[in-house]
Amino acid sequence: MGTKLSKEVHDYFKEEKGSLCCRVLTSKFKKLKITVVKDGTEKVKIKKKSSFQFLIILIFIANLLIKDGSGSKKKLYFFTYKYILYGNQIYLLGDVRVEFINSKENKLFKTIKKLKQKKYRERENLFLAEGHKFLDFSITPKYIILRDGVEENFPKIDDFNCKKYIYSDTLFNDISTQENSQGVVLIYDFLSNSMDNLGENIVILDRIQDPGNLGTIIRLVDAVGFKDIVLTTGSVDIYNDKSVRSSMGSLFNLNINYLSEEKLVEFLKLNNYNILSSGLTNESVNYNKIKLKGKNAVVFGNEGQGVSKEILKVSNEIVKIPIYGSAESLNVGVATGIILYKVKEILEEYEV
Ligand SMILES: C[S@@+](CC[C@H](N)C(=O)[O-])C[C@H]1O[C@@H](n2cnc3c(N)ncnc32)[C@H](O)[C@@H]1O
Repeated sequence: MGTKLSKEVHDYFKEEKGSLCCRVLTSKFKKLKITVVKDGTEKVKIKKKSSFQFLIILIFIANLLIKDGSGSKKKLYFFTYKYILYGNQIYLLGDVRVEFINSKENKLFKTIKKLKQKKYRERENLFLAEGHKFLDFSITPKYIILRDGVEENFPKIDDFNCKKYIYSDTLFNDISTQENSQGVVLIYDFLSNSMDNLGENIVILDRIQDPGNLGTIIRLVDAVGFKDIVLTTGSVDIYNDKSVRSSMGSLFNLNINYLSEEKLVEFLKLNNYNILSSGLTNESVNYNKIKLKGKNAVVFGNEGQGVSKEILKVSNEIVKIPIYGSAESLNVGVATGIILYKVKEILEEYEV
């Protein structure tokens, strides 16, 4: 259906006049009827008389349809990816509205720009993820922002029922967190994580500081097949753009919570977790000899100081990866990989 018409439909043009910027699809067909289906319900039929009239009507409808409360002048792109040709009508499906923004005064732009800072993320309950990889997840973002000119690279955005915007180059550069951006930024609501019903095997991260390490560990925990991470207060934010990026989307698959050290210790004791801290101490046992019990909490520590004394004190065992050369210790992400895969291996042996 769609592909047959795509050449004509994609022959769209761009009209920029002051605050009005509208990209509409044109067609060589005479007497064409356009039906805009908004969110699957609202229908507006237009009889095409001439290109000019057609453009005026579309702009009029665009302004009627768009109400986002941003206070900025409405600018619209009509997206041309999803349509069905039926008889002499084109049905544009789903949310065909994509607003073009090129003003630094736009309210949403100002909000998104601030999401690089934790205090604004917390205030807005929003975080930012960048890159096409995030379009592979079924979690619907609140907003999708594309850089002007890359629309055709991301037909996948049609799968998401959310607000979509195209930002001018200058604006996109201001919100982008990557040097070589692919031109797509997704804004999500905070994830709903909870300390209820944690799994049998959980990972504790004690004051981890580096966002790249955190993202790597999130990805690793997901790969090993565990579901829960608890971070002690003072650890880096999971919604830091580098953590989000290096988690490669695994943060959507896990339940990640923050607790104070005191509350964490109380929680682990109350719920009878076997606490296995990692670190190089005189009492540490080799990671090959880990003793697992019913519920296991494996703890990894701060990049500079390791696991806190308070947590070490209540640990059932301290586990080390032997250092054969002269390195002082391993990167916490690497240590997490070695120990968690060992834990997984032992758990699988139990199951056989
Ligand atoms: C860079 S290390 C911290 C080194 C710190 N100077 C210390 O005294 O613990 C960060 C974390 O990685 C893990 N780690 C690093 N090397 C390890 C090893 N050889 N054995 C066990 N855990 C290790 C531990 O969880 C540690 O808390």
